[in-house]
Amino acid sequence: MKNVKGKTAFITGAASGMGLGMARAFANAGMKLMLADIDQEQLAEVEKEFKANKIDVGTIVCDVTQRDQVVAAADATIERFGKVHVLCNNAGINVGGTYEELSQQDWDWVIGVNQLGVQYGISAFLPKIKLHGEEGHIMSTFSMAGMVNAGPGWAPYNASKFAVVIMSEVLKSELKGTDIGVSVLCPGAVSTNIIDAAKHRPEEFGSSGDKPAIPGDDMAQFLELGLDPDVVGRLVLEGILQNQFYLFTDPRMLKAVERRFDKIRQGFEWSAHSQSLVDSKAPGADVAVEYL
Ligand SMILES: NC(=O)c1ccc[n+]([C@@H]2O[C@H](COP(=O)([O-])OP(=O)(O)OC[C@H]3O[C@@H](n4cnc5c(N)ncnc54)[C@H](O)[C@@H]3O)[C@@H](O)[C@H]2O)c1
Repeated sequence: MKNVKGKTAFITGAASGMGLGMARAFANAGMKLMLADIDQEQLAEVEKEFKANKIDVGTIVCDVTQRDQVVAAADATIERFGKVHVLCNNAGINVGGTYEELSQQDWDWVIGVNQLGVQYGISAFLPKIKLHGEEGHIMSTFSMAGMVNAGPGWAPYNASKFAVVIMSEVLKSELKGTDIGVSVLCPGAVSTNIIDAAKHRPEEFGSSGDKPAIPGDDMAQFLELGLDPDVVGRLVLEGILQNQFYLFTDPRMLKAVERRFDKIRQGFEWSAHSQSLVDSKAPGADVAVEYL
């Protein structure tokens, strides 16, 4: 988007951390805000902050795992502001544990919030952004856990965050030639309240028990020392204004992605010399390479 002043942004997970950082950055740039979160109390606190600063703000309690609530939030945004230009699919949670430790409800909750919540957001808001014919932008928050293996105990989170980045890559290709930009935010360590994620676990997904949101003591400390979420909010605004797709909060983490690709490259090299493939002389690869 070339200009965001006077435009409306809808943000999920807006009552804390990076969602709140985005709301503050957008408000400073003259945007109107529709803030959504599952935490009603915290949302009311945040609303007070913006109202005190004379920001045109609306709030809605919305659990992104519930498609009907996301659809209702999109309708409420149009009712309140007439149009919506920016969607930030930012709400995210985690419960850590190995395959043997995690319950089906643990998986359903993580995938429900982090992956399906993003899909519900895009499906509900995209038609409304297209309708007015002005510029728009869809930003979704993923993680370095959507680029590399975060280690034992991270499977649902890793899976959901890989999904967000590829869903957004496909969306970008579908919106080519339109005035609607797409970005993905990849936070490294950011100092937020994600460690308390279990607080926001709805009853229908059961309980996290004593399973931590962030497996591993070092990881929790790593987050505490992380970036200020308001800085991340400003980075997101900058990315929207420059139509930048990948937004990384910690560019040093490129090394971890390179290590992953080295392993993938090794797999291609091994396969190229495997007896089965050498013997089969399989046709068709050139066509596939061209298509991808
Ligand atoms: N903090 C980090 O270091 C870090 C790193 C990588 C990725 N992320 C991602 O950043 C995003 C923002 O998280 P954060 O770190 O600011 O955490 P946070 O806990 O401070 O904020 C998340 C917000 O999402 C809300 N929320 C939780 N479940 C919800 C639901 N079902 N529907 C609607 N809202 C819900 C919470 O109430 C909270 O206000 C998440 O997607 C997270 O996975 C965080």
